[in-house]
Amino acid sequence: MYIVLLGAPGAGKGTQAAMLVEAMGLVQVASGDLFRKALQQETELGKTAKLYMEKGQLVPDEITIKMVLERLGEPDCKKGVILDGFPRNIKQAMALDKALDEQSEGIDKAVYIKVTEGELIKRLGGRWVCRNCQTSYHETENPPKVTGKCDRCGGELYQRDDDKPETVRKRLEVYFAETAPLIEYYTKAGKLLEVNGEGSAAEVNKRLLAALS
Ligand code: AP5
Repeated sequence: MYIVLLGAPGAGKGTQAAMLVEAMGLVQVASGDLFRKALQQETELGKTAKLYMEKGQLVPDEITIKMVLERLGEPDCKKGVILDGFPRNIKQAMALDKALDEQSEGIDKAVYIKVTEGELIKRLGGRWVCRNCQTSYHETENPPKVTGKCDRCGGELYQRDDDKPETVRKRLEVYFAETAPLIEYYTKAGKLLEVNGEGSAAEVNKRLLAALS
């Protein structure tokens, strides 16, 4: 099974993907997390990605597509995958369809998590992320039990550089120009499900599971 989570920066893709992993036993493949891991490890990929991420721009397609397709080829992905943050434009979506088609597979559903712009900005402004396992928290909506520490693994929490207001504005611009057209792409393919992403993470997850069932 391959499920794509679509939505603007801060819509809750990462939060919902982690909940779906628990509920459905699938593997989360998050392109942003893969880039941040490479950045932490100071690999060539990480250094290149940083140049784009810090400006709120998309990392070039050739690099991103290669990285994600390699990850999808790893054995654990045979269980089924939740794609979070990929594809991000039509070119990536077509490359993914082609690669899956070559294995007689395909995207089962694309879930669009719809959230208003005001709420997105509020969520990104209060986000804290675990350096170790990438779990997301929010300082008021979903705080960790101990300030600065991840509930799941005890790792250190930090605020992402690209959550600064000026970079968030750019990320939203890029989302509307490049990623939002995927809503039509998956609608035409008969695969789109739309879920209201407002309310608590648990409420959104209930809607998402209902839509997928
Ligand atoms: P990426 O890491 O993919 O970031 P994004 O898409 O901008 O999404 P976010 O991680 O910001 O948000 P999210 O929807 O996962 O929300 P979350 O669950 O964390 O990409 C970063 C960069 O990497 C890109 O700008 C680009 O440069 C590069 N990149 C990545 N993929 C790429 C690709 N395919 N091609 C090219 N470049 C790529 O939630 C946000 C906050 O809200 C958290 O604090 C959370 O606790 C809180 N929250 C979640 N749900 C709720 C709720 N229901 N109520 C209240 N608060 C909530």
